[in-house]
Amino acid sequence: MNSSKNRILLTQYPILKTNNLCVSRSGKQILHDVNLSVNSGEFVGIVGPNGSGKSTLLLTILGVLQSQKGTVEIYGKSTKHPTREVYEKISWVSQAAANLPKEIRITVRELVQLGTVKLSNLLFETDKQRRRELVDNAIKIVGLESVQNVSIGRLSGGQRQRAVIARALATDAELILLDEPLVGIDRETRNDFLKLLDDLSHNQGKTIIMISHDLAAIRQTAHRIIYLEETIRFDGIPPDFPNLQELAILRGIKDVHGGHHPIIGECCDENEIKESE
Ligand SMILES: Nc1ncnc2c1ncn2[C@@H]1O[C@H](COP(=O)(O)OP(=O)(O)O)[C@@H](O)[C@H]1O
Ligand SMILES: [Mg+2]
Repeated sequence: MNSSKNRILLTQYPILKTNNLCVSRSGKQILHDVNLSVNSGEFVGIVGPNGSGKSTLLLTILGVLQSQKGTVEIYGKSTKHPTREVYEKISWVSQAAANLPKEIRITVRELVQLGTVKLSNLLFETDKQRRRELVDNAIKIVGLESVQNVSIGRLSGGQRQRAVIARALATDAELILLDEPLVGIDRETRNDFLKLLDDLSHNQGKTIIMISHDLAAIRQTAHRIIYLEETIRFDGIPPDFPNLQELAILRGIKDVHGGHHPIIGECCDENEIKESE
């Protein structure tokens, strides 16, 4: 699956497609007409303010939440009729997953091995060698070989984040969904982690969809940025991402100062405003 030939073939088809997706939670519409198409091997960053529906979108893709209207297709198959094959191709990583309680006494290797546990593995005598290879490879990719037999409770936050990613990789999933994986990790770890995601999409044939409110990080690494606020308000390459003024227009936010800032006087230069999103 990782051969370049396969990859070129796969990139011609969307791995994930949502069509006019509408999702309500507790009677309130959260997502409206979301049309998203992601090709194999892409690294897509999803940004948007708090409560804009980013996690809701991932949970709907994963089939945890049901849409009121519209469809989600993975490899061209609707998730309304999920098949095990389709869900085995998806992996989900959340910030919460990296915050595993310290009392859980499980080593990095054991955690990663859990990624290879599937119903089919449990029911049938499995290819143990293949499972071992998947685990070894996943640990190697995230650079945790030296601590693979260390309890996860003794790892740094960044290492734990890598261990959770390794578990996702060991599932052999092709589509990796990450919900705010950068929260609470230091700058150096963040840069390494982004490099790892970039490598996964470029060299390991993985398709990555990452939610983050770290717009600068997404801009530097993702191939494509989606701005989601109830619906998709921007979908394009990072250099085309709207500036703050354009973003305010997209979001329907009106200038309350009429071009005259109460502190700095004449209309302020948007570049001097710290990016708040
Ligand atoms: N379990 C829930 N029940 C009802 N509404 C929810 C639930 N979880 C989140 N919401 C609401 O859905 C909206 C979108 O939430 P979410 O998708 O988590 O946003 P984001 O991930 O972009 O911060 C918010 O208004 C939030 O209050
Ligand atoms: Mg969220």
